[in-house]
Amino acid sequence: QILILDFGSQFTQLIARRVRELNVYCEIHPFNKIPAITSEIKGIILSGSPCSVREEDAPIVDWQGFPSEIPVLGICYGAQMMAQTGGGEVLPSSIREYGRTILNKIDNRYALFKEVADHTQVWMSHSDTIASAPTGADIIASTETVRVAAFKLHDQPRYGIQFHPEVTHTLQGKTILKNFVVDICECSQNWTPDSFAEASIKELKEKLGDDKVIMGLSGGVDSSVAATLIHHAIGKNLYCIFVDNGLLRKNEFEEVLESYKGLGLNVIGVDAKEQFYTALQGLTDPEAKRKAIGKTFIDVFDAEAHKVEGAAWLGQGTIYPDVIESVSVKGPSVTIKSHHNVGGLPDFMKLQVVEPLRLLFKDGVREVGKSLDIPQNILGRHPFPGPGLAIRILGDITAEKVQILQEVDAIFINALKDSGLYDKVWQAGAILLPVQSVGVMGDERTYEKVVALRAVTSVDGMTADWAHLPYEFLADVSNEIINRVKGVNRVVYDISSKPPATIEWE
Ligand code: XMP
Repeated sequence: QILILDFGSQFTQLIARRVRELNVYCEIHPFNKIPAITSEIKGIILSGSPCSVREEDAPIVDWQGFPSEIPVLGICYGAQMMAQTGGGEVLPSSIREYGRTILNKIDNRYALFKEVADHTQVWMSHSDTIASAPTGADIIASTETVRVAAFKLHDQPRYGIQFHPEVTHTLQGKTILKNFVVDICECSQNWTPDSFAEASIKELKEKLGDDKVIMGLSGGVDSSVAATLIHHAIGKNLYCIFVDNGLLRKNEFEEVLESYKGLGLNVIGVDAKEQFYTALQGLTDPEAKRKAIGKTFIDVFDAEAHKVEGAAWLGQGTIYPDVIESVSVKGPSVTIKSHHNVGGLPDFMKLQVVEPLRLLFKDGVREVGKSLDIPQNILGRHPFPGPGLAIRILGDITAEKVQILQEVDAIFINALKDSGLYDKVWQAGAILLPVQSVGVMGDERTYEKVVALRAVTSVDGMTADWAHLPYEFLADVSNEIINRVKGVNRVVYDISSKPPATIEWE
């Protein structure tokens, strides 16, 4: 495997995903918590960082202390750190080196640049520059303004590059990473979705034996794939619980339940709508709504779980980004919303946790799902928040408002699917606003509700752009909503990106 040491760059996970795309297993660890360097580790990548190596408390690792046969690749800050601590020099750059630039004077005699064309486009993002390479290093590529764009130590497989090979703007980035991982580190490319699924099912069989596992399903990709893996390992000893909280999309509960049954899962569907509506009664504050939903979910889940006698494990769909310990090199990050995952493990449920997807990124989860023949209507679903429509109805929640929003949402989502736009947006939905506006229908004055449509493009939900849906499409959807959904007389489209807005309105 490849070990990636994280210095806090926003691109660290992207490096890991690129390595995984080469079917090579890798792990991310914080620079200050390096695991034992065993013979399993075939190479080490040092990530970028928002820090400058010239700062006093700059994060540093003793890369020269790694066993000399293990190849090292420093990317951006990683390369600067190698230079600064290896006898070279890093200075503030006189011009900010940011964006696309052309790499030239590439020395193809070096394995890192095998099959990389001279004058290839790379992407830079740094305000420091390597003025001189570490002692005993050759400069193996430059750009017009950056003399040391890449270096390699004599007689040692240790490389530094100032650009980012992991981003798509570096056109031959994949080739460079492949050269490092496959040719230089000699990793075999056998970490495939099939091999992951097979190994994971075998491991789960050994771990779980004849034990019973309970698991909450949400209809989302992660919990569905995790449950299917466990199901392949232990069959009927997996008890899945799928709760209708009354805040799902139109017909979603029934449809998803059917899909689960089609997968052979042993699913218990629980209609807890009234319990959730009661808990939400009169609540208008978004965080209060989230807490009420979280608490009710735990109550409902716990009551159901107790019906499964002798359960020993709780299955969860946790994925790698939730597991990676984040490095905070620039102060703690603030909580914007008390988010994510209403479930969690309540203290009073003394179960061991089994998380078969802990090592996977979202794209990996989908790949494994495909290899398990999970249908596309589950794997291709947009993300949907745990608190569901409750955070898309601004203000208090009533069954009537939920029904109106479900109708609006269904028209929007079906239209996206019918026009082939569903897979082009990352997430979409409708928001019921707490405002009424005047309209005219026939000869009548109306005074009815306003809904907002929201569709975004994104990679991971951390940042997002509003989707530039065609005007004609929006016109048709708006017409259909106003004509068919009683109580709505105005439709608006949200054209805010994240940041500064968020994807959800609450
Ligand atoms: P925001 O609104 O923060 O949303 O831009 C980013 C992603 O997170 C989802 N989201 C939630 N998911 N519980 C969840 O499970 C929540 O409370 C929650 N709030 C937002 C949102 O749908 C988007 O995919």
